[in-house]
Amino acid sequence: MNKFSRIGFILAAAGSAVGLGNIWKFPYVTGEYGGGAFVLVYLLAILFIGLTVFLAEAVIGQNAQSDVATSFVKTSKTKNENWKFAGFMIISGLLILSFYSVVLGWILDYVITSFSALPTEASVAGAAFEKLISDDIGNLIVYHTLIAGTVIFIVLKGVKAGIEKINLILMPLLGIILAGLLIYALTLDSFSQAVSFMFSPDFSKINGDALLAALGQAFFTLSLGVGTIMTYSASLPKEANFVKSSFYVALVDTTIAIIAGLIIFSFLFEAGAPSAAGPGLVFISLPVIFSGWGVLGQVIAVSFFVALVFAGITSAVSMIEPSLKFFIERFGFTRRKATILCGSIFYGLGIVALLSMSKAYGAELTFFGKNAFDWMDFMTSSIMMPLAAIITCIFLGYFVDKQMLQEKFTKHTSVAVFNIWYSLIRYVVPIAIIILFLNKLGILS
Ligand code: PFF
Ligand code: NA
Repeated sequence: MNKFSRIGFILAAAGSAVGLGNIWKFPYVTGEYGGGAFVLVYLLAILFIGLTVFLAEAVIGQNAQSDVATSFVKTSKTKNENWKFAGFMIISGLLILSFYSVVLGWILDYVITSFSALPTEASVAGAAFEKLISDDIGNLIVYHTLIAGTVIFIVLKGVKAGIEKINLILMPLLGIILAGLLIYALTLDSFSQAVSFMFSPDFSKINGDALLAALGQAFFTLSLGVGTIMTYSASLPKEANFVKSSFYVALVDTTIAIIAGLIIFSFLFEAGAPSAAGPGLVFISLPVIFSGWGVLGQVIAVSFFVALVFAGITSAVSMIEPSLKFFIERFGFTRRKATILCGSIFYGLGIVALLSMSKAYGAELTFFGKNAFDWMDFMTSSIMMPLAAIITCIFLGYFVDKQMLQEKFTKHTSVAVFNIWYSLIRYVVPIAIIILFLNKLGILS
């Protein structure tokens, strides 16, 4: 059977969760919002909102054991066929994968350049990054092709021999690299500074924007609103404890984000570099710091960027799987045919995203001020993912038999935990997402 083992599920779901969101995005967003207070709000968002939606996707998936569209129909009280439209969320996975693969391509370039020469000044590093993403189109196409080819190769082999196996290999390697980097960070004087930056909250830095950034990051980091967790849970054996598994995945994801933050802030503070550098934190600030550390710096640079690639690959395979399962289960496609179709779609969209950043081919082609790359990012993280999450909550809270849900949960946990989860699903999470949604669309700002 093409199913995960329980540990295989935890690894694969953790592999999906742990990605660029943890090692690149979490540290720079934390830096931008000034550290500790943001971290605290983020942890609360993970615990009360992220974990709640994670459990929601897991219970639907494990119960229905099917693709996202069919799972909604099967789980609904009335078996109403219209719930299949909730399956729209799988499109987000392909859209995210398109530009995620491009970003992983940039990181491949950093792995390669870390072997030769690292920039010694921020202005040089900034210019090199700018040139890479807007000028080196030939290279970027090669990198994107390599990443896309790897993703396609893995998913072609199926859930167990492909996805479970790659996670079994890459997740421990990722753990080893991060442990090594953490040990090095611990030897630096700046480590304690990094700890206090991340854990002593300055509440004057908390505003509406920070709350919303924390909430958005909680969804993205746990791979929610894409049908990924639902799809992976559909390959979780029916008797497995989905409550515990979900909890472990959220714990692993959060731990890795915190560790990545501690490592990166130690490095930044050691060099006296600013913590609020934004998205360029990893691509511009870090290489300059590494270059000051000689050969050891190069080893650290290579390890760091390899870790990002490993984390990203295990997330990337999880973005395409919901679409594959959809075509396989609903249209009787072979895995091969589904992979060729979905692979071509995201590969092609990735090329569009990549060209849309290039000076020569597309930088001036914007619609409403955004290029294709930004549109794919905006459409998914600001519109489709929150919409999918809210539909999932309202579905479970109002259109699914409560008794059935309670039985599923209480097989593994107490009635009290179920009741808390159920109120979060019915009231708290939908309201939080509506606020997030309106704000992102600029209606509440
Ligand atoms: N959770 C991943 C990260 O933190 O990088 C990103 C992601 C993976 C989002 C899979 C959505 C998804 F379906
Ligand atoms: Na993550």
